[in-house]
Amino acid sequence: MLSWMHDKNVTGNLKADFSSKTLGDARDFIRSSRTDSHNLHLAVASDEDEYMGTVSLKNIEDGTAEFAIAVRSEAMGRGYAWFGTKEILGKAFDELGLYSVYWCVSKDNARAIRFYDKHFFHETLDIPESVLARYAGTDNLKWYSMLRGDVFDFPETVSGCKVVHIKTIPTLNAGELSVFEAEHDIPFDIRRIYFISKVPEGVRRGFHAHKELKQLLFCMYGRIQLILENSHGREEIELSDPSIGVLIDECTWREMLWLQKDSVLCVAASDYYDPDDYIRDHEEFKKYIAG
Ligand SMILES: CC(C)(COP(=O)(O)OP(=O)(O)OC[C@H]1O[C@@H](n2cnc3c(N)ncnc32)[C@H](O)[C@@H]1OP(=O)(O)O)[C@@H](O)C(=O)NCCC(=O)NCCS
Repeated sequence: MLSWMHDKNVTGNLKADFSSKTLGDARDFIRSSRTDSHNLHLAVASDEDEYMGTVSLKNIEDGTAEFAIAVRSEAMGRGYAWFGTKEILGKAFDELGLYSVYWCVSKDNARAIRFYDKHFFHETLDIPESVLARYAGTDNLKWYSMLRGDVFDFPETVSGCKVVHIKTIPTLNAGELSVFEAEHDIPFDIRRIYFISKVPEGVRRGFHAHKELKQLLFCMYGRIQLILENSHGREEIELSDPSIGVLIDECTWREMLWLQKDSVLCVAASDYYDPDDYIRDHEEFKKYIAG
């Protein structure tokens, strides 16, 4: 820990001054963190059990906490930061039962901003005064937050279809607003929107493909397993976060399994209803995509 505390490459953009820290300070921090119920600090270690960095949840109160991370220079670009981030966010929601986690970063910290943005964390615009007060006198900050139910570890594609991150603006402890615009955020004009609701748990639907229709599918509420099959193979993805959608732009067979009753599947489609565009027979579909 002390080596990164004295490494400008790590601390250069951090608010706290670590340069005066001593080995005794680092030892005291580790010792006190074992019994600290207001803050959770975890070491990120390599498979060989070498210390790589620290991830933290600070100021745990009222169902929320502030996330912090610092990894050693030697650990940067090697996946340790993402591993530690996923682990502690998993603990925040699953073990501590928090409703939200927030954090901020200096806008000059290009590496950290790229790290958060490439993992699709959402920028937050509305931060409570009590939190801002801790950063009084520091401006030029970019704020992020995660709310319980946000999915942060998902594939980029499923059966070759793109997994889309619908633009989302969280408000701390007050939900999220998600939005997409035809032709701007998805690559087609929208002629039709439909949604499937009031479905009991365990029901399967779909069982068809479209020859030409392009669609964006997302789960507005609940949990739905989406199974897709096309020339790239057959794969499944669980949709449970309204800000994650799947863009289908080639002939793809789809089946949906309702994992939770009353889950709502929403579809934005590129054209009006056309019964001739449907393939409802799986054998016929296989022949169709085989050309
Ligand atoms: C922020 C931090 C946790 C990220 O971990 P990491 O292992 O460095 O992250 P990654 O390498 O996976 O991602 C960093 C990305 O930024 C890019 N990057 C590196 N330097 C950059 C720069 N100067 N400008 C823009 N992007 C930069 C990397 O190329 C990489 O992007 P890529 O995967 O598309 O190539 C780590 O760098 C760190 O601990 N920094 C010091 C402490 C800190 O800033 N903490 C965060 C405070 S909020």
